[in-house]
Amino acid sequence: MAKLRVQFESGEPERVIEFDPARAPFQHDGRPGSILDVLLAHGIHLEHACGGNCACTTCHVVVKKGSERLSESEEAEEDLLDKAPGLTPTSRLGCQAVIEDPDAEIVVWIPRYTINQISGHGG
Ligand code: FES
Repeated sequence: MAKLRVQFESGEPERVIEFDPARAPFQHDGRPGSILDVLLAHGIHLEHACGGNCACTTCHVVVKKGSERLSESEEAEEDLLDKAPGLTPTSRLGCQAVIEDPDAEIVVWIPRYTINQISGHGG
């Protein structure tokens, strides 16, 4: 089972999720088995203004551990991340970073801020 530990800047208590990556997709937003997919399936809210389609930055997470166990980021993701507030060297878009390794132990940190880049949505 893969393990995903989730920490929140907002001060919410840490959550630990165990799941089998082979069973993806879980919730159908973002790439199958992505951090977003896994979080939503376990009742953890992560903004995803564009619906998990690599077209915003609201699903930005900071990978504190296990980034090498995630799918590699593609250019479109990198371009968007450049615009993400609070960018770090291990930042990823939650909807694009897929946990494929069944033995992965990942720690992600969810920033409090979000920038909604889709006009007319939210507010
Ligand atoms: S939800 Fe928009 S890029 Fe991930």
